[in-house]
Order: sequence, then structure tokens, then C-alpha cells
Amino acid sequence: MITIESKEHLHHQVSILKSEGKTIGFVPTMGALHKGHLSLIEASNKACDITISSIFVNPNQFNDKDDYQQYPRTFETDKALLEQANCDILFAPSQEEMYPEKDSREFDFGELGNVMEGAHRPGHFNGVAQIVSKLFDAVPAHKAFFGQKDFQQYVIIKDLVKQLNYNIEIIACPIVREKNGLAMSSRNQRLSEKEKEIASNIFKILSWAKKNYLDYSVSDLKDIVAKKYKELEHTRLEYFDIVNDTNLQTIKTWEEDGNFVACVAIFCGKVRLIDNIVFNLQ
Ligand code: PAJ
Repeated sequence: MITIESKEHLHHQVSILKSEGKTIGFVPTMGALHKGHLSLIEASNKACDITISSIFVNPNQFNDKDDYQQYPRTFETDKALLEQANCDILFAPSQEEMYPEKDSREFDFGELGNVMEGAHRPGHFNGVAQIVSKLFDAVPAHKAFFGQKDFQQYVIIKDLVKQLNYNIEIIACPIVREKNGLAMSSRNQRLSEKEKEIASNIFKILSWAKKNYLDYSVSDLKDIVAKKYKELEHTRLEYFDIVNDTNLQTIKTWEEDGNFVACVAIFCGKVRLIDNIVFNLQ
């Protein structure tokens, strides 16, 4: 694996590889890598000739300064993990490389951006769009791989690609979980053992909802699930919602068209965790 720090150098390398007829897969990350990230590298390796991953902790997408400062940074371990996973190129730019000047672009994702994470983390998706567009400019890949763990981010990135006319196919990859069901996340490193145990209930409750949803109306199910979350010790529920997987709007009845995704954001101690489950894959 080679490590590249400059956008221009990377863009040049990608152009050479493309001119040789190679297909390019791209996996953007913020580091502190775990098996969830590595599953995206694996998916890219399967689908493409060359896999490029980036590690950049993007300040512009953190609405909470503390969260940015506390975000785990484990660069050397990450590099070794990418190497083992057969990643071909690591893009590891500095802050100055990605933001030589202030990025004041404002993106509008309409109804996709106003709900759930968009409603609770002002500016978050604008920051994600700023960095992902810069990354896509540096890495004009054939395919880019995103986890369904961040379901709303995946839908927003697809919209970004449409808005900016990128010729990049966005591929969604399934959520990788710990044995106890907890969705893998870089932020899990900040949970104590006790908090990890409590946090395993996030998925248990989502699974209960998926199994039993047809026995209730949408609003009754949402009330019951919210109550279950609120009963967990040491946690604070931020939202639980059941939305259409394409427009991300709250569904009203189970008769509506499309797939339903139940999404949750909850603080476990000081750590904010998100998770989701698709009810009815059509
Ligand atoms: P980060 O949180 O590092 O996640 C990088 C990618 O890994 C995202 O596509 C995310 O959905 C995926 N991922 C995280 N946990 C996962 C899990 N348990 N199973 C499967 N995939 C998982 O998302 C970001 O970084 C940033 O917002 C980024 C897109 C890099 C822009 O800064």
C-alpha cells in the first residue's frame, strides 16, 4: 500500500490507473478503523481492481467541538489494518491540504437534510458534503462505498452525486455488528464495559420492533419503542423515527409504498450513538 498526502498527486495516480483500464473503488473514512470500515474495503476489493481509502477527521462536520476533540485518532494502527485488508492506496491529507481556505459552500438537500441527524446536528451534512465533494474531486473513482450504519448520510451522498454530476456509483454496505449486536463505531472506543453492555440494547430494541411491527399502528409502535429506550439506564434518547428509505420522511401507516427504516440516536453516557434497521425489504 502506498500513502499519498497530496490531492494533485493522488488525482494524477488515479488518472494513470484509469488510463490503464483499471476500475477504482473508494472508501472514505475518518480513521479509528474497525471491522465495519474493513468490510467496505473488502467490498471494494471484490468489485474493483484498485481500492483507495482516505483517513481525514473532518472538522467541518462536527457540530460539537468536544466530539471533534475527543474523536479517536489511531493513525498507525489504521494504516496497518488497511495494509492487511489489501487496500492499495491510502490518502491521508492534512487540514491545510483539504481546507487551504475556508469552505463556505452551502448545500441544500431539501427534505433529506432537515430530519433526524440533519435536525439534531446543525451543519453536519453540509460539512460532510463539503469534504466528500473535495474527496470525490481528488479521487474520481468508479464506485464509492458507504455503510448503511449512517443511513441518512448514504442517501445524502447519493443526492450530492446527482447535484454535482459525479460519475461515481454509490454502493451501500450492510451494518457490521459486535457479537452482542452493538453496531461497530469508532465512538464505541469511548464507552466503558458497562456502557457497551447497555448499548447492546439499542439493537435488541430495534430487532424487537422489526419482529413485532405489524401488531401495532406506526404511532403506537413508536411510543412503545421510545419508552423502551427511555427505560435504559444511563442513556438519553435523542430521537427514534420510522422513515421511508428514499425520501427519509416519517411514515404514517404500514400500507405506504417503499421500505421502512427505523432509526435511532441515543446518548450512552457522553457518547452519541446511532443505529437503524430496515423493516420490510421490498
Ligand atoms: P466514518 O464514521 O469513519 O465512516 C466511514 C464509513 O464507514 C461510512 O460509510 C460509514 O457508514 C461506514 N461504517 C461505519 N461503521 C460501520 C459499520 N458498523 N458497518 C458498516 N459500515 C460502517 O462516515 C464518515 O466517516 C464520514 O462522514 C465521511 C463519509 C468519511 C466524511 O468525512
